[in-house]
Parts: sequence; structure tokens; C-alpha cells
Amino acid sequence: MNLIFLGPPGAGKGTVAQKITDDMDIVQISTGDLLRGAVKEGTELGIKAKEYMDKGKLVPDELVIGLLKDRISKEDCKNGFILDGFPRTIPQAEALDNSDVEIDKVVNFNVPDELVIHRITGRRICKECNAVYNIYPDCDPNPKEKGKCDKCSGELYQRDDDREEVVMKRLKQYKEQTEPLVDYYKEKGILANIKADNPLDEIVEDTKKAVKS
Ligand code: AP5
Repeated sequence: MNLIFLGPPGAGKGTVAQKITDDMDIVQISTGDLLRGAVKEGTELGIKAKEYMDKGKLVPDELVIGLLKDRISKEDCKNGFILDGFPRTIPQAEALDNSDVEIDKVVNFNVPDELVIHRITGRRICKECNAVYNIYPDCDPNPKEKGKCDKCSGELYQRDDDREEVVMKRLKQYKEQTEPLVDYYKEKGILANIKADNPLDEIVEDTKKAVKS
């Protein structure tokens, strides 16, 4: 099964994807993680991408499309995948349509803006395995031990683009460039809407039901 997770920054796309991939025996592909990996390795693409990411802007389509196509051609994607953060523009969606990949469902996570900002400023990520946590008690999941990943004991860090002023810019970019994809996929008849300001366990169950329907 091939899925797309759509929604603003902080909607919970990555958190929900990490919770359902094992059950469904599919892989999570986050273009944000792929880009941050390239930045960390200091590749030519990473150096170019960092300029955009630090400002809360989208990385140019031609760079991201190449990266994504290369990733989905890998053996571990044969059983299916969740695209988390791709496509983010109409040209990216068209590039996907023009590839030989069939998308079964697009899950759209809906959350109010103020919750996005709260969730993102409290987010912490494992340096080793990219697992997502949150330091605020009203967010989910909290790490069992402060600053450490529950799964691999890796150190938790805050993303450079998770500062409030950058989050506001990312939200603006989302509304201008990515939100039109909601109608794009609605017209194709494969969109499922999820109320993403509910408790995490409920959202995970709603998502599992939505992708099976
Ligand atoms: P990317 O890494 O994709 O960031 P994003 O889309 O902005 O999404 P986030 O990772 O911020 O949010 P999420 O929905 O995954 O939320 P999460 O699950 O972590 O992209 C980063 C940058 O890379 C972009 O700005 C752009 O520059 C570039 N980029 C990436 N893809 C691109 C593309 N295709 N084209 C061009 N440029 C691209 O949850 C957030 C927090 O809330 C977590 O701490 C979590 O623990 C908590 N939480 C989640 N759900 C709940 C819940 N139900 N209850 C309580 N807490 C919750």
C-alpha cells in the first residue's frame, strides 16, 4: 500500500507514520529527514537545501523530486510506503503522477495553527534514529528519560527550523503552496480527512481505518 501524509508542519504526520509502519509492513519516507541527512553529510544537495530550510522555505522542486524518486526505487519500498512531506507543491504531485507509482490513499491531518506552534516548539528528535518526542506534558510522546531516546538511547535535539519565527514562515509556505493539494487529491477521490488535534492513539486508529476504507 502506498500512502501520502498531508498536513501542516507539526500536524503529527511523522509521529503517526512511525507508529503504523511496523503494523502495516511498509516504510516511512520523510523528505525532511532525507534533506536533513544530506545537510548532515554536507553533500552538494544538502548545502543548497540548507539555505532554504533554515528560512522556512520549500527546497526547489527539481532537487526534491530527484531525491524522492531515487528513494522510492529502493528494494525496501517494494511492499509499500508512506510519503511524509511529499508532495508539497502541484509540480511535485504531477511528477509523482507521471512516475509508475500508484497512490492508494492521501491522509490529510487537520490541526489549528496555534496547536502547530505549540507542538513544534516542544518537539525533540533522536539524533540517531529520528524518533519524534515532545517535552510538553500535554503533547505525545514524552521521552521516559529527559533528553534520551526510549528506543536507542540516542541524544534528543531540537531542529534548527523549529524556532517560532521559522515555524510561522513554514506555515505560510504550507498554506500558499501545499494546501492546494487537498483539492487536487479530493478530485481524484483518494483523500481522507483526519482530525489531528485528538489524542495520538485515537489519531493512529482513525488513520488505520481511513487507509483501509
Ligand atoms: P519536514 O521535516 O517534512 O517538516 P514539516 O512538514 O514541516 O513537518 P514536521 O516534521 O514539522 O511535522 P509533522 O507533521 O511530521 O509533525 P510531528 O509528527 O513531528 O520538512 C522540513 C523542511 O524540509 C521544510 O520546511 C522544507 O524546507 C524541506 N522540505 C521537506 N520536504 C520537502 C518537499 N517535498 N519539497 C520542498 N521542500 C521540502 O509532530 C510534531 C510534534 O507534535 C512532535 O513533537 C510530536 O511528538 C507532537 N505530536 C504529534 N501528534 C500529537 C498528538 N496527537 N498529540 C500530542 N502531541 C502530538
